[in-house]
Amino acid sequence: MKHVFSSFLVAAALSVGPVQATELVMGHTQSETSHYGVGVEAFFDTLEDLSSGKFTGRQAAAGALGGERDMIEGLQIGSLDLVISSTGPLGNFVPEVYVLDLPFLFRDYEHARSTLDGEIGQALLDKVSENDLKALAWSENGFRHVTNSKHPVKTPADLKGLKLRTMENQMHMAAFTAMGAAPTPMAFPELFTALQQGVVDGQENPVTVISAAKFWEVQKYATLTGHVYSPSIIMVSPVLWDSLSEAEQNWFYEAAAVAVKTTRDEVTRLENEGVALLRENGMEVVTEIDKAPFAKLAKPAYAIFTDKYGTELVDKILAR
Ligand code: PAF
Repeated sequence: MKHVFSSFLVAAALSVGPVQATELVMGHTQSETSHYGVGVEAFFDTLEDLSSGKFTGRQAAAGALGGERDMIEGLQIGSLDLVISSTGPLGNFVPEVYVLDLPFLFRDYEHARSTLDGEIGQALLDKVSENDLKALAWSENGFRHVTNSKHPVKTPADLKGLKLRTMENQMHMAAFTAMGAAPTPMAFPELFTALQQGVVDGQENPVTVISAAKFWEVQKYATLTGHVYSPSIIMVSPVLWDSLSEAEQNWFYEAAAVAVKTTRDEVTRLENEGVALLRENGMEVVTEIDKAPFAKLAKPAYAIFTDKYGTELVDKILAR
């Protein structure tokens, strides 16, 4: 009897076999403990649970696989599984997404998050997915602020001639040119050294990134310009996506929703605590400025978008 029982177990084990785990890689440019890093960890924890261990994952953090543009190209050809990226270079692949990069478009986090979680956000995710990419969800980077090594920025006049690293993004470059700065597009992994060596005087990023990258080591001044809301996006390679069953694809959507919540919670925490952190680390932070003159000067960026795509989408977002 004992023999029959153990043979049964062996047969059962052979027929089911061990679950073959597939280890996926998600690339991003921030540290493993950053707002992106905690989101990626939550994504893989959830996916592993939902798939009972079929899918596991690891982060390729801190630009180990290159800048965001390189990683998006990697997704398109299937050399990378997943990416969390800002919209910085995304407009070069999916121009409609440029709308999100318009300066002073979103009033606050509530306005931005509810827009991205609603119809407009879904329509843009669908657009992204028409371009050899599969977009899972809008996540978050935060409102972007200017830092520099020269002087405090209080009015647009203080931006005059400032060599400012921007993302490789037409809207941001047009806005900063119009505000009087000298924008220099550059991939994020090159930025710290460029600031250190004085190749550029400043940069603009949310408090999340300024603190994760320890920019206080190379930047003295920060101003809460909040000139643009910077979403991030979680994308999968279509090569991987097309190999998944519908049930598996749903696990990816669920994991992305958990990642978004985790990242947004971390952005909120850093928005609340970040300025104190920058000051503790020696930065001079200007928190109160009149944003109206910056917004007025930055307006030409809107024409670049609306001349091509009309005003409907912009008006819809502004009216929300
Ligand atoms: O400045 C950028 O390039 C982006 O904001 C960053 C830091 C890579 C986050 O996506």
